[in-house]
Amino acid sequence: MTNPVTYETQGAIAVLRINNPPVNALSQAVRQGLSDGMDRAEADRDVKAVLIVGEGRAFIAGADITEFGKLPMEPNLPDLCTRIESSPLLVAASMHGVTLGGGLEVALGTHYRIAQPTARLGLPEVHLGLLPGAGGTQRLPRLTGADKAIEIMISGRQIKAAEALELGLLDKVEEGDPQEVGLAFVNELLANGAPRRAVSELPAAAPIDWEAAHAGALKKGRGQINVGTIVRAVQAASELGFAEGMERERGLFMELLQSDQSKGMIHAFFNERAVSNLPELKGVAPRALNAIGVIGGGTMGAGIATAALLAKLDVVLIETGQEQADAARGRIEGNLQGALKRGKISQPQYDALTTKALTLATNYASLGEVDLVVEAVFEDMAVKKEVFAKLDAACKQGAILASNTSYLDVDEIAAATSRPEDVIGLHFFSPAHVMKLLEVVVADKTAADVVATGFELGKRLGKISVRSGVCDGFIGNRILAAYRTAADHMVLDGASPYQIDSALTGFGFAMGPFAVGDLAGLDIGWMTRKRKAADRHPDERVPTYADRLCEEGHFGRKTGAGYYLYEAGSRASVPNPRIPELIAAEQAELNITPRDFSDEEIVRRYMCAMVNEAAKVVEEGIARRPADVDMVLLFGYGFPRYGGGPLKWADLQGLAGVLADIEHYAQEDAWFWKPAPLLKSLVADGRSFDDLNRAGG
Ligand code: 3HC
Ligand code: NAI
Repeated sequence: MTNPVTYETQGAIAVLRINNPPVNALSQAVRQGLSDGMDRAEADRDVKAVLIVGEGRAFIAGADITEFGKLPMEPNLPDLCTRIESSPLLVAASMHGVTLGGGLEVALGTHYRIAQPTARLGLPEVHLGLLPGAGGTQRLPRLTGADKAIEIMISGRQIKAAEALELGLLDKVEEGDPQEVGLAFVNELLANGAPRRAVSELPAAAPIDWEAAHAGALKKGRGQINVGTIVRAVQAASELGFAEGMERERGLFMELLQSDQSKGMIHAFFNERAVSNLPELKGVAPRALNAIGVIGGGTMGAGIATAALLAKLDVVLIETGQEQADAARGRIEGNLQGALKRGKISQPQYDALTTKALTLATNYASLGEVDLVVEAVFEDMAVKKEVFAKLDAACKQGAILASNTSYLDVDEIAAATSRPEDVIGLHFFSPAHVMKLLEVVVADKTAADVVATGFELGKRLGKISVRSGVCDGFIGNRILAAYRTAADHMVLDGASPYQIDSALTGFGFAMGPFAVGDLAGLDIGWMTRKRKAADRHPDERVPTYADRLCEEGHFGRKTGAGYYLYEAGSRASVPNPRIPELIAAEQAELNITPRDFSDEEIVRRYMCAMVNEAAKVVEEGIARRPADVDMVLLFGYGFPRYGGGPLKWADLQGLAGVLADIEHYAQEDAWFWKPAPLLKSLVADGRSFDDLNRAGG
């Protein structure tokens, strides 16, 4: 294996150049290479200084995350940083691209730091459930003070070079070849007799109100534990000597590395990237994608158009009449004004997007030049079929015809055209210009390059795209239906919707199922229940109190009342007193004596329902791998990132226990709690969902 760190001398300076594509992660070989390079430089009598630079697109993107969970290999990173810092030679880093995590910790171990104006620095370990574990929590506060260091580490944000200079993380910002500007900088330092300068020797940061900082961090973390640990590590930097502080940091880092939360977040890191790597698409080129059509400019169509415009695609949006078209334009402009306010686009960009890039029309002939159309009209098969027949007639050959349907059969929609191979489902989530998830729904006849184009569109829009097969609700909404049903059953048996929402936000969900229902609109579920009523199995438990609420004209947030009451113009809500009355009436009718539920039981039943349905979705091939389901729940359904997704959660809990609980619940409702055969076979074989991920399916 070639050494990923090369050594060359330029006059009195030894240049250590890291070349470990794609992002110069600090693998064992890189750590060893840096350590050997330092030894060699110190042994060379002509060398007075060392300059560390990175090859390719980054200086160093941090520790090699693939090594986490494996046996530690020497030299370890904290020791390497200290070894660099304690060198008798003057050591500098010249940075470009990103310098993240362990990469910044290496840089903080050097004596001087220079960077390109475009460089970005950060300590993003927080997003992996960790803390900076190679001296970052001890050195950074010595430069920036405790408050700023905590803010940087808890946000994990990337700091631009200009701000890093102001904060004292950098000594100089200069444009040019990183090695050349680095050499010039170090030569200047040598010429001026600049001293070695160790961050660890700077005075410790002044104390702050640690308890307030700790409590504030945990509140912001919403269940994420490492944010509190970061505060404790910074506290150690202030209260202990450097060596002792380093030891404390190491201990806390190792504790976090063993935590389920870190395992969940690392699972998310790798799989949010892996979901769009489909083996069957290797070598398949996507079709051209310059202009898209959107049919229907309601909630979803307007959001999809906004996302496309922000991604620099031209958009032609078709509505049923001028009034509807004007309303759609209003919605899109409102969304873009939000982007303008947040500084995502400039006023001239806003003007260009709303005039040149966006066309509203009421006639399908305007779609002649678009490369892909997303239909987002009412959720009604007859309407969808009519629209697709019109699209078939109006769109050019090779144009892709996509539906944003939530539940309907994409095969049936495709059959309404003469080109089913060009038809696909592209299921966005509301609001479509904000939510990260895109389900790419592959129908029986969808061509491979159409699927590739669906993923390409997702990439351009900045989405996490997940492949789904065709079934009622695809991956996400199908699983949602199952765990939502479990919640409804608990309501009938005695848990209040408010206790359930609170137990689940306590678990880490962004919202509980009843608050979500109010937000999405209760009429959708009501219509679905009516649609399915005829095919119900006699053993199926279907609560009807929510139907009573809809019959009384309450559809959630949009009507001001649902499970909660909403005051006009306010985001706050209070429980709707009508709900307990309706529930009590139904319990009396069904002869149910309500019982108490603990929050723990609520979470367990909810999660078991989610895992059981998810296992069925994997087994049926609707989802390609268990990790794909995890990413759907993470990016579309508010599952906490630190949980990794339901199937990662199940692995961490132990599948045998999850199955045992499902079998136990089945004793009271065998119709709903049918254990997934895949779950049973994994338990029987002593395997996990992650074993299936590793096997590729
Ligand atoms: N270790 C191992 N692999 C890494 C990696 C890392 N630190 N960072 C990125 N990669 C891999 C990715 O998995 C991806 O692999 P793939 O092509 O097989 O999917 C490849 O590098 C390219 O990554 P991206 O697709 O994400 O490329 P981008 O250009 O979009 O982003 C990046 C580059 C900003 C560096 C982004 O990858 C990133 O944020 N990486 C993680 C950075 C990080 O968290 N660093 C801290 C690590 S923990 C640490 O340092 C602990 C220390 O304190 C002890
Ligand atoms: P909506 O009711 O807000 O908007 C539908 C729009 O389509 C209306 O503006 C209507 O005028 C227009 N329309 C109807 N028939 C048309 C036709 N023949 N030609 C052109 N325009 C037509 O509905 P929403 O919520 O935007 O949903 C649209 C689709 O997206 C549905 O299939 C829905 O299931 C799906 N979806 C909805 C989500 C949501 O959270 N609302 C999430 C994901 C998918």
